[in-house]
Amino acid sequence: MHSHGHSLALFLAVACSAAPLAGQEPGVPSRSGLVVTTEPFASDVGAAILRRGGNAVDAAIATAFALAVTHPAAGNLGGGGFMVIAPPHTDPLAIDYRERAPGRATPTMYLDSKGAIDRSLTATGYLAPGVPGTVRGLDLAYRRFGSLPWRELVLPAVKLAEEGVVLTDRFAQSLNRELADRMASYPASLRAYGRADGQPWTAGDTIRLPDLARTLRAIATGGPDAFYTGWIADSIANDMAIHGGLITREDLRTYQAHERVPIRGTYREYEIISMPPPSSGGVALVEMLNLVEPLHLAQGDRLNTETLHWLIETRRRAFLDRARYLGDQDYVDVPVHALTSKSHADSIRSAIDPTHAGDSEALGRDILTVRDTESDETTHFSILDRSGMAVSNTYTLEGGYGSHVVASGTGVILNNEMGDFNRKPGETNTGGDIGTPANLIAPGKRMLSSMTPTIVRREGEVVLITGSPGGRTIINTVFDIVLNVVEFGMSGREAVDAPRLHHQWLPDRAVIEADGVSEEVLEQLRAMGHNLVVRGRQGDAHSILVDRKSGIAYGINDRRSEGSKASVP
Ligand code: DON
Repeated sequence: MHSHGHSLALFLAVACSAAPLAGQEPGVPSRSGLVVTTEPFASDVGAAILRRGGNAVDAAIATAFALAVTHPAAGNLGGGGFMVIAPPHTDPLAIDYRERAPGRATPTMYLDSKGAIDRSLTATGYLAPGVPGTVRGLDLAYRRFGSLPWRELVLPAVKLAEEGVVLTDRFAQSLNRELADRMASYPASLRAYGRADGQPWTAGDTIRLPDLARTLRAIATGGPDAFYTGWIADSIANDMAIHGGLITREDLRTYQAHERVPIRGTYREYEIISMPPPSSGGVALVEMLNLVEPLHLAQGDRLNTETLHWLIETRRRAFLDRARYLGDQDYVDVPVHALTSKSHADSIRSAIDPTHAGDSEALGRDILTVRDTESDETTHFSILDRSGMAVSNTYTLEGGYGSHVVASGTGVILNNEMGDFNRKPGETNTGGDIGTPANLIAPGKRMLSSMTPTIVRREGEVVLITGSPGGRTIINTVFDIVLNVVEFGMSGREAVDAPRLHHQWLPDRAVIEADGVSEEVLEQLRAMGHNLVVRGRQGDAHSILVDRKSGIAYGINDRRSEGSKASVP
């Protein structure tokens, strides 16, 4: 849903179909590690790796490969993402395996003849994908920390693809929707993900993915080069050449994942560790936490009018800074240090009116050029091992099933991440399109992300591992969960269940989850000038919270997604 043209009505219909949240239970306790993902087979694959003596990074690699089979809407080989790793007693680090623009990409490649953004070009099809990063990213994580043989980390996914996965009703319906609609014009996609007899899938059917199994087996034996220089790369490049796409063999051969220094912040005694550019997530998260830290919001109720007002205004300002400054640091200067400083937060805070909603358009007048117009398909998992090593990983194809294009004979669904670039240079509008220079398209550049895989520590010990899908809502989902823990002292279950809030500067609208906020509070906020929308569901934040007193870790699957699971080794 990141800056895409999905209608709000459609989004609300999807969002409101989520099951209501059940009552309190503390999460799955463990002293020997946890793997928490959106899908039970993948959680179990990760936990089995921990059981065999693998560490959190081994488990993360196996889990990510498994999700590419069992959760193809977002788990992937043909997309990209970010992994934040906190090993015990050493500095944390981040792996950036974000997609990059192909060498022939241009800043205006998504404009039509009238100069308007042609959103169809980044919704589906061969022009939508960036150069995939996932396989190189998992390899880089492996080279830094892997301990079991690489093959053993990929083979569980090979097995799942070969032997097949029994479809739940939800999975069957999701595939049928795509096969009948956005995959329908891509024969290779229908061949890979459709039923052999052309009939719709039903719950209980077994879906086998032999092409994907062959691809995964090649990666298991040949490593990442099998994907980036072998027959898989050839298939991607050939399909691109035939169908007017831009990705070449050279683009694939030269793709590299990067090790990055995480964004570090503090919230009183807590240490915040999150993703640096090309994600905007860590910078915005730390900026928002700095902004509210001196307010001692826990002195009031979590969901009262005053707290929510501050939390909306905080988001409004941080997202304006995001629109102004954030992009790929390898291409543009991003003032990371200034944006995450306590003094920057102080100066913004002092300009916030405690009784009235801010004016997004007035605040951003310098970059706003036009007045006029996000499914949860990305996936986050959290892992902790027995030694205390934590992994927080969010990866994505951007929209559900990405570009809907499968590279012939590979089973690999390619992403549509190019839509995360600013597609119209110079046009920033009230609908949420951003046209500032930092995130314009350039060859080889990484598109700006909102993914916010995050780890919180206290006195060097892991307290919280979290992250979420949801496009720009991701940053706010993570901010809410972190704040629920570090300010409001909630348990992991309470922190993940609590109603979430979204505001992204423009469109000037605060979206709040339905459960738990009273009508009276909503009315008071409206009277202060807030444009409020109440909706059913935001994000899918599979998290781990460690109880400091007992030392027990709790796996907190986000119950907003049916089937999500916390597995213990
Ligand atoms: O990188 C990003 O921020 C987006 N491509 C993530 C997309 C996402 O979360 C999809 N679902 N809403």
